[in-house]
Amino acid sequence: MSEDGPDASAEAGDIAIRGPRLLLRALRADEIDAEWQAMVDAGPMVIAELPDEPAFRARLRRSGRLEDGHLDLAIDLDGTLIGRIQTFVPPGRPLPPGTFDLGIGLREEARGQGHGREALRLLTGWLFEHAAAQVIEGATDPANIAMRRAFQRAGWAEAGTVTTGRSTGWARYFSPMEFPRPTSRI
Ligand SMILES: CC(C)(COP(=O)(O)OP(=O)(O)OC[C@H]1O[C@@H](n2cnc3c(N)ncnc32)[C@H](O)[C@@H]1OP(=O)(O)O)[C@@H](O)C(=O)NCCC(=O)NCCS
Repeated sequence: MSEDGPDASAEAGDIAIRGPRLLLRALRADEIDAEWQAMVDAGPMVIAELPDEPAFRARLRRSGRLEDGHLDLAIDLDGTLIGRIQTFVPPGRPLPPGTFDLGIGLREEARGQGHGREALRLLTGWLFEHAAAQVIEGATDPANIAMRRAFQRAGWAEAGTVTTGRSTGWARYFSPMEFPRPTSRI
């Protein structure tokens, strides 16, 4: 962390979302190497497939800004980067306007303490309030109990399966404010 605090290198207009314990903020340039390494180290249950490295790094340099459905934010606990949360457009599955796909990953030592749940709530709340979100969805390997529990504890509802990249049959979840109610959609 810089002497000036976690927002010191953020550009004016970068998105920052503060919750009871966490701050979701733009990643700093000096944090990008570690984020790439975390992707390389992640197993197939955590990411569907390893992204192209230059594209991934370019994406993180745009962190803090929502562009074409993509937004990457650092999950910051008391000035320490503990993970990353993002919206993205899945490869080969363009999303309709107002629909966001959400992903999250925490450093190993930060897991299992409710941070995942808080970060999910913060970003979904912001998307509904500031980004005209109508539908927010997420997916995970059915064997990823921690992610499934975090979705459930944040009030998300499970609805079928989806294919994400090369992974088929991932459990699909919808955040509470959009979950389709048949009568409200007719
Ligand atoms: C998935 C992840 C974001 C969840 O965030 P988190 O802060 O760890 O989750 P929470 O603490 O909010 O809740 C986790 C819940 O799962 C439970 N849990 C965690 N690991 C578990 C396991 N192996 N078996 C059973 N339950 C488990 C916890 O007990 C907790 O349940 P509770 O709320 O009933 O106590 C985080 O664990 C993570 O980053 N994992 C690695 C990356 C990843 O898998 N990302 C998702 C890819 S789709």
